[in-house]
Amino acid sequence: MSTKTQQPILVTGASGHLGRSVLKHLLETEKFPPGKITATTRNVSALADFAARGITIRQADFEDAASLAAAFAGSKRLLLISTDTLDRPGHRLQQHRNAIAAAVKAGVEHIVYTSMPNPENSPLLIAPDHAETEHALAASPLTSIILRNNWYFENLFLGLPQYLASGLWYSASGDGRIAHIARDDLGRAAAAALASADTGNRIYNLTGRKAYSTEEIARLVSATAGKPIQVVPVPVEALIQGMIQAGMPEGLATIFASFDTNTAAGRVADITDDFLKLTGVHPQDYQDWLAANRANIAG
Ligand SMILES: NC(=O)c1ccc[n+]([C@@H]2O[C@H](COP(=O)([O-])OP(=O)(O)OC[C@H]3O[C@@H](n4cnc5c(N)ncnc54)[C@H](OP(=O)(O)O)[C@@H]3O)[C@@H](O)[C@H]2O)c1
Repeated sequence: MSTKTQQPILVTGASGHLGRSVLKHLLETEKFPPGKITATTRNVSALADFAARGITIRQADFEDAASLAAAFAGSKRLLLISTDTLDRPGHRLQQHRNAIAAAVKAGVEHIVYTSMPNPENSPLLIAPDHAETEHALAASPLTSIILRNNWYFENLFLGLPQYLASGLWYSASGDGRIAHIARDDLGRAAAAALASADTGNRIYNLTGRKAYSTEEIARLVSATAGKPIQVVPVPVEALIQGMIQAGMPEGLATIFASFDTNTAAGRVADITDDFLKLTGVHPQDYQDWLAANRANIAG
């Protein structure tokens, strides 16, 4: 994807990890003119560093539907970063619908959206938000690029302190594999999609170079950290109960456990070369990423 747009572009949710990575790659990898980039966020001061680099920063909260069209005004291509709102089913979907409706009203022509692998009919409890957002985009008058982002390497850090402290990694993912990828690579891919002149409807399945089982990941992480981590296979119900006993609310524990069910079903295992097609480079290798993050992993 080499032809670049000359049109103004916008990144929503820009102060998150992925959003900041997208802004960095727009400036440094895509060499996109900062004067043609708008970043929206609920917390404008969190992007003061990018404001200083010439990007326009505007306040926008998907909860405040009426305010969004003004925040999006003037941009033709918009990256809709899925939110992290998981408090009740459908809440996040409504936020995304608000954003899509506002983009249409504001004269945006094309949306790039951060989805997930195989969102249709998924055992993963957060999947319907993504599937329905994809449907809302298809039903809108806009064209869209759907980025079906595989899981971040960085998700490791959610459970890592526990694995290292106990030496145990309870898992219901069986032999299921994860074709995970560095979050910064996904930021790079989103920047490439947003900065391109492509106005077609497309889906990119963005994955790493190789898919790993939980057992393999544990072995590699253990070697990197220099501490033993043993995977303990458990049924999904036991996983949920374990998380509840550790203090997690039941709703959240059920959501987290459904990631393992989804992995066990082989729904995040497929490897594609879509990242290469979109960016022109290969994604980072997992073992290289572990080595580069050794200090954080060892704790
Ligand atoms: N593929 C994966 O493994 C994976 C892992 C975790 C999350 N995700 C998804 O990918 C997204 C980006 O990941 P991340 O690492 O950047 O997550 P993050 O650092 O937790 O950022 C969360 C993002 O959600 C935005 N947001 C939350 N509520 C919002 C609202 N009411 N209106 C507008 N934006 C709102 C935030 O925007 P502001 O704070 O700037 O307003 C922020 O960009 C997540 O939100 C989640 O949907 C994917």
